[in-house]
Amino acid sequence: MSRVLGLVASSCGGLDTRFAAQLAKPAADRGWELAITLTPTAARWLEKTGGIGDLEACTGLPVRSTSRLPGEPRPHPDPSVFLFAPASANSVAKLALGIADNQALTLLGDVLGTPGITIVLGYQIQDTRVHHPAWRRHLDTRVHHPAWRRHLDTLESAGVTTTRLTPDTSWTSVLDLLPAV
Ligand SMILES: Cc1cc2nc3c(=O)[nH]c(=O)nc-3n(C[C@H](O)[C@H](O)[C@H](O)COP(=O)(O)O)c2cc1C
Repeated sequence: MSRVLGLVASSCGGLDTRFAAQLAKPAADRGWELAITLTPTAARWLEKTGGIGDLEACTGLPVRSTSRLPGEPRPHPDPSVFLFAPASANSVAKLALGIADNQALTLLGDVLGTPGITIVLGYQIQDTRVHHPAWRRHLDTRVHHPAWRRHLDTLESAGVTTTRLTPDTSWTSVLDLLPAV
């Protein structure tokens, strides 16, 4: 199995303080070679806080957030394993709908549903977007976005493993859902 992990992140609370420490570095420590791609907003946040350097320290590959120009070489190898975390409600919805208006979604949309490809998705959303009777018993949900569960169902039916990240527990546990390196 390839050791390359396509690590994709969008702009969720904690990205600036937790993404490198709780996802990128522990994944690299487990032996993954990281090919990191950020949504444009996530990249803007980390450029502002200086967090891109922390990510670059975890990988020998460039941290991507923009598409290449026609004729330019592809800066990353093609992973067969992807971790999209943290994934925002916005990016989850767009991925489920097939919208590919940035490099992160283009990358994931290109491989979604392909046999032999593993995608684990750790989403972090407001409780107000959760819409599932089973979850309602465990969470103090108030308003339910009508499309949210459909987006998760769409992705899960394409083989994506989904799990919820929360602001108050470490994101590192999502790495346990990846196949062994
Ligand atoms: C400080 C802050 C924290 C945010 N946290 C979250 C979050 O945890 N989950 C989420 O779905 N959106 C969150 N958002 C909103 C997203 O950043 C926003 O919807 C953005 O358009 C998502 O773009 P992206 O998916 O392309 O990164 C947050 C916004 C801000 C300013």
